[in-house]
Amino acid sequence: PVIHVVTPTYSRPVQKAELTRLANTLLHVPNLHWILVEDSHEKTLLVRRFLQETGLNYTHLHVETPLRYKSNRNAQSPEVPRGTQQRNLALRWLRETFSLNDSQPGVVYFADDDNTYSLQLFEEMRSTKTVSVWPVAFVGGLRYETPKINHSGKVYGWKTVFDPQRPFAIDMAGFAVNLGLVLSKPQASFQLRGVKAGYQESSLLKDLVSLRDLEPKASNCTKILVWHTRTKEPELVNEGKKGFTDAKVEI
Ligand code: UGA
Ligand code: MN
Repeated sequence: PVIHVVTPTYSRPVQKAELTRLANTLLHVPNLHWILVEDSHEKTLLVRRFLQETGLNYTHLHVETPLRYKSNRNAQSPEVPRGTQQRNLALRWLRETFSLNDSQPGVVYFADDDNTYSLQLFEEMRSTKTVSVWPVAFVGGLRYETPKINHSGKVYGWKTVFDPQRPFAIDMAGFAVNLGLVLSKPQASFQLRGVKAGYQESSLLKDLVSLRDLEPKASNCTKILVWHTRTKEPELVNEGKKGFTDAKVEI
């Protein structure tokens, strides 16, 4: 199966660094298609050129998050979705591009541009029949969060401190979906409005699977193969108001 990696991304000083690191990982993964969705009103030259040079098999899309959501995008406010519209556009693209009958087998994974992904993770998710799940490090104030697995190898709950009663108490980086399932449930998407903090993943997954159908990966969820890392914003204080370095030099 092809792995369709969906990555929302937005312009900021570290963007190209994040995309470079992610592309360097993806270049090691066979049979991969990268759907990079810019949060912008048009495709930027930086990302366009970057993608052309990677040598990856990719699709470049864009959709701008409405201003009303962006105003306090940095606040840890639950109603501020990050990357939601971009992921939904990718789902729409997949549904418009592939159809259940003729499509070759695929798996969809939502990979943010700043996380750290092991190569083994991609081989684990490749066999996803419905929705596969695994632990994610550095989320919810823990070393890692993980699905709870019973003796028959089924998911029966979530080892999280933050709101374990969520239908799917799992980070975006902790699951992959079979492409056929995405195509067969055309209504399933991420909810944009009125989603409480931590419920974004559930808003999609509740329309796709039930708990008992989840497929645990990473040795029954005992191995950490992805880290929810966050990049420190660089301090550019010496640039001053007008900018000290040559603005024409792309970083
Ligand atoms: C956590 C989750 O891991 C994300 O999957 C989830 O989207 C996010 O919370 C949220 O909904 O708030 P976090 O590290 O806080 O992640 O979020 P970011 O990494 O800042 O953003 C997630 C993705 O959206 C990234 O790929 C980022 O480039 C993109 N993004 C962020 C945009 O496209 N536009 C923005 O304005 C901000
Ligand atoms: Mn992040």
